[in-house]
Amino acid sequence: MKLFDPSVDNNEENAIKKVLHSHFWASGTGIGKVLEFEEKFRKYTKASRCISVNSGTAALHLALSLFNIKNKEVILPSLSFVSTAHAIIYNGGIPIFVDVKPDTLCIDPEMIKKSITKKTAMILPVHFAGFPCDLDEIIELRGKFNLEIIEDAAHAAGASYKNKKIGSHGNAVCFSFHPVKNLAMPSGGAITLNDKNERGFTEDLKSKRWMGISNRKGSKYDVKDIGWNYYMNEFSAAIGIEQLKKLDKTNSKRKEIACRYSKELHVEQKIPFNRNCSYHIFWITVNNRDNFIKKMQQNKIEIGIHYLPIHKMKFYNSKSKLPITEKITKNIVSLPIHPNLTDDDIDKIIKLTNKFSK
Ligand SMILES: Cc1ncc(COP(=O)(O)O)c(C=O)c1O
Repeated sequence: MKLFDPSVDNNEENAIKKVLHSHFWASGTGIGKVLEFEEKFRKYTKASRCISVNSGTAALHLALSLFNIKNKEVILPSLSFVSTAHAIIYNGGIPIFVDVKPDTLCIDPEMIKKSITKKTAMILPVHFAGFPCDLDEIIELRGKFNLEIIEDAAHAAGASYKNKKIGSHGNAVCFSFHPVKNLAMPSGGAITLNDKNERGFTEDLKSKRWMGISNRKGSKYDVKDIGWNYYMNEFSAAIGIEQLKKLDKTNSKRKEIACRYSKELHVEQKIPFNRNCSYHIFWITVNNRDNFIKKMQQNKIEIGIHYLPIHKMKFYNSKSKLPITEKITKNIVSLPIHPNLTDDDIDKIIKLTNKFSK
């Protein structure tokens, strides 16, 4: 049983065949799948704008570049994939790692407040596992201290906060469409914008995602700023359009599995059950992690670790003391949760987790 597995049917197959035979595979050409995906994802999240790129990492890199964070501090959780912190470094900022709440493992607004200094420019919350962060409290801090908020919503496609889809709250919200994610593509990402400067930002992002090119007229163009090769390709977009059509359905399946895990797993700690969560990850804690992973693997059940704390990585080597993050990252594991699991698979995962987690 795989830890992650995208839901794929004939619709994805037909969609990629159409792109293949169009002979136009890059974006900006051919059958316009990238533009179509952007507009459909924008409507789905009810954001003001949506700009697609070729990964969640690229989305974070470019979204952070919209604001000047050079030599300024950006507050983030250490419990995330390293891309979240790398995006700050790419833009010359200083990552300030803070602790998470013990129940949801999302960034703790109280800890954010304690870490704000004159150098703080931005808060970068992560909707960990697809569980929505306390956005109201974070947005209140934005107002009080004049900060920007960029959300890392790599896990949160389809998650909601206060009846609004994630993607419609922060100045800029970054999604990943990596093949393991709730909305899967071969690779892809997007930034949704809800900022008063959204028009200028859209132009900026479009230029930065393709080498800084602007003022393009036919084969002629100019470059006013540095840019990258970050555009989404037509195959990814065509698959993404099909994935988006079924996202609410596949997320409902994840919630059904999460509901069973919540009720039937007898473990020390687990992600809370909440209908607004997209359950990209279902995390629990176990007593002996190596042994648990080995035993589950012997029974053909793949187990993940999300994540090892970023602040302890050699490159970051931060002196920050984050007791909750440091404790939980010693015994956290992720169980398989995806729409392709059968009832028998779920029964087996529950039975063996209860057996081997002690
Ligand atoms: C929290 C988080 N942020 C950012 C990323 C980066 O996304 P991508 O792999 O599409 O570059 C990931 C991907 O795993 C992630 O989990």
